[in-house]
Amino acid sequence: MRLVQHKKEAYWFYRFLSIFYDKLVNPLFWTVPMRDVSHDLMDWSPPNLQVVDVGSGTGFNTEGIVKRVPAQQVTCLDQSPHQMAHAKKKAELQGCTFLLGDAENLPFEDNTFDRYVSAGSIEYWPNPDQGIQESIRVIKPGGQALMIGPLEPKHPLGRWLANTWMLFPTEAEYLKWYEDAGFENIKISYIRPHWFGGESEYGLALLGTKPLDYTPPVKHVPSQSPPPEKMGIGRSLLLIWRVLLGSLAGFGFIPAALFGYVKAAILGREGADLERLNRHQILALCLIILLIAGLIISIL
Ligand SMILES: C[S@@+](CC[C@H](N)C(=O)[O-])C[C@H]1O[C@@H](n2cnc3c(N)ncnc32)[C@H](O)[C@@H]1O
Repeated sequence: MRLVQHKKEAYWFYRFLSIFYDKLVNPLFWTVPMRDVSHDLMDWSPPNLQVVDVGSGTGFNTEGIVKRVPAQQVTCLDQSPHQMAHAKKKAELQGCTFLLGDAENLPFEDNTFDRYVSAGSIEYWPNPDQGIQESIRVIKPGGQALMIGPLEPKHPLGRWLANTWMLFPTEAEYLKWYEDAGFENIKISYIRPHWFGGESEYGLALLGTKPLDYTPPVKHVPSQSPPPEKMGIGRSLLLIWRVLLGSLAGFGFIPAALFGYVKAAILGREGADLERLNRHQILALCLIILLIAGLIISIL
């Protein structure tokens, strides 16, 4: 179903999620150690790298980038003004360039950047292959593109929730999109938060290099804004239904992560003490426990 894998749906999803994204949600699923492992794949050593962060959101991924290159050399692009408003307030990101735009139709000339990074955004793109073709187009020959995203869960319930919510590609799909776009020297690192004890992989970081003699598979048509989608009453109702149901499926992962956290701490799993739950997450955990207790009592 992938209810939120659509530009309008993703826009409205983040209209509300942006309010508690940094406090509650993001630190559960996308952590500093995961970000470090992902960014370590890329070669940051050349001087004066120009970097674009696509789907930069509230700037968590960008905060890692500016540890490696000066903020003045970093461009952040996102389609959500609400997410971007949070990023713009962050002290470390002062100096970055902020642009509203679409990952699948980047407002940049060919060969503009040395590095392209996108974290946790591909899941919302209706045409991920097109977004990846855009990544290779906007970097210079010899430049690198790093795509960070989730992998399809193996557990049937997790897979059902994930696929109801949005796109969770397989590793083979990521690789095919990178190969079809023309990347070479493709490398992968697997990433997971410390609480994730599943046997399957959780997410990956995929690095590719643009060949020095790169020729685009298809001639690039200069960017044009797509005609605005007609929003009649039927489409508006469908949008509300998709965002509500998609969000519900997505929020199903929050209790799973919170209980995984507690379990990891009880088992003394490595890393459990490194990333403690913050007060917003503790409040959410208490509310979920109360809700479950209330449900059980009302059934008995
Ligand atoms: C899970 S957040 C990731 C934010 C950030 N990269 C981070 O590391 O925290 C996904 C972001 O992708 C953005 N997004 C979704 N679809 C997009 C598109 N087609 N073009 C640009 N940004 C998009 C959303 O607005 C949201 O801010």
